[in-house]
Amino acid sequence: MGVENVKLREVFEKQPVARDFFDSIGIEIKDENLTLMEYVETIDEEKLEDLGLSKDFILENFKEFLNNLSDIESNELQKVKSITIIGGYNKLGEKEDVEIEIKAGEIISIVGPTGSGKSRLLADIEWMAQGDTPTKRKILLNGEVPEKDLRFSSEFKLVAQLSQNMNFVIDLGVREFLLLHAESRYIQNKEEVVEKVIEKANELAGESFTGDTPLTSLSGGQSRALMIADTAILSKSPIILIDEIENAGIDRKRALNLLVEEQKIVLMATHDPILALMGDKRLVISHGGIVKIIETSKKEKQLLEQLEELDRKLLSYRNKLRFGERLTD
Ligand SMILES: Nc1ncnc2c1ncn2[C@@H]1O[C@H](COP(=O)(O)OP(=O)(O)O)[C@@H](O)[C@H]1O
Ligand SMILES: [Mg+2]
Repeated sequence: MGVENVKLREVFEKQPVARDFFDSIGIEIKDENLTLMEYVETIDEEKLEDLGLSKDFILENFKEFLNNLSDIESNELQKVKSITIIGGYNKLGEKEDVEIEIKAGEIISIVGPTGSGKSRLLADIEWMAQGDTPTKRKILLNGEVPEKDLRFSSEFKLVAQLSQNMNFVIDLGVREFLLLHAESRYIQNKEEVVEKVIEKANELAGESFTGDTPLTSLSGGQSRALMIADTAILSKSPIILIDEIENAGIDRKRALNLLVEEQKIVLMATHDPILALMGDKRLVISHGGIVKIIETSKKEKQLLEQLEELDRKLLSYRNKLRFGERLTD
């Protein structure tokens, strides 16, 4: 299913500038509940002749127009080299005296007790806060205040969120679901890309699944793996935020590597020592403010290797358990 079979309303919601296309060829869209395919059928031949257009011309050129848009979009997004967090005030009203620059390719973990403000910090970044959130923080993009239209744009998605709840309720197969997703993001050669997502997700999940597996029968680990691969491969967003996602049943190292492969900025709130130590640095949050920035030391990286070894063992025991084997063999 191509964009010509998506309701125009949905296309415009995603790409408001797509309206310009119709303005430029002199056609007024009266019913946005139609798909483009249906719409061209409603335009009368005489009008088309007057305008010197054909139905095929409109279909082809609209697709071309959208493709060019997504090229512009990805260029715009690739330009994100860093973000800077400029401190505001903690929950006690005390000044948060920090200025932190995070560069593309860096992984930053966010630690602190429940209720300390980890999710709030992620939300500030997602929102590109400019002193207009409860924390009064400011977030810079490449060292500058982000342009308004970039901040509020639904076209240029700066930030992708990996969230906790992804209970798939729709009854689609994995492949069908991913194809829809790829389409809504105007991904080119989507069949190929979707197969890559399925392959990568299988590398992350202990238990394998196929494109035909119904979403509703994926295990927790499988659906998390699918979500991570989907974000890493289908999303062009240069900034990825991960909020305490439960990580049982997935290969965390591979998952993170997949996410940072493309020079993305990754911030993750976590209580998991493996994830925390995978970060280059960790921000310690207390009472709603960043109180410390700890760089992961060599010793901690060594500890991480031991923890990962332990983790792999656990994962293999889980699988043995699942397949009815004895854990002592
Ligand atoms: N600097 C701050 N100023 C005011 N309120 C804050 C600040 N930081 C966090 N909060 C608020 O405190 C509450 C708990 O924060 P939250 O980010 O959910 O904690 P966590 O994710 O660490 O459990 C939220 O309502 C949040 O908006
Ligand atoms: Mg939270």
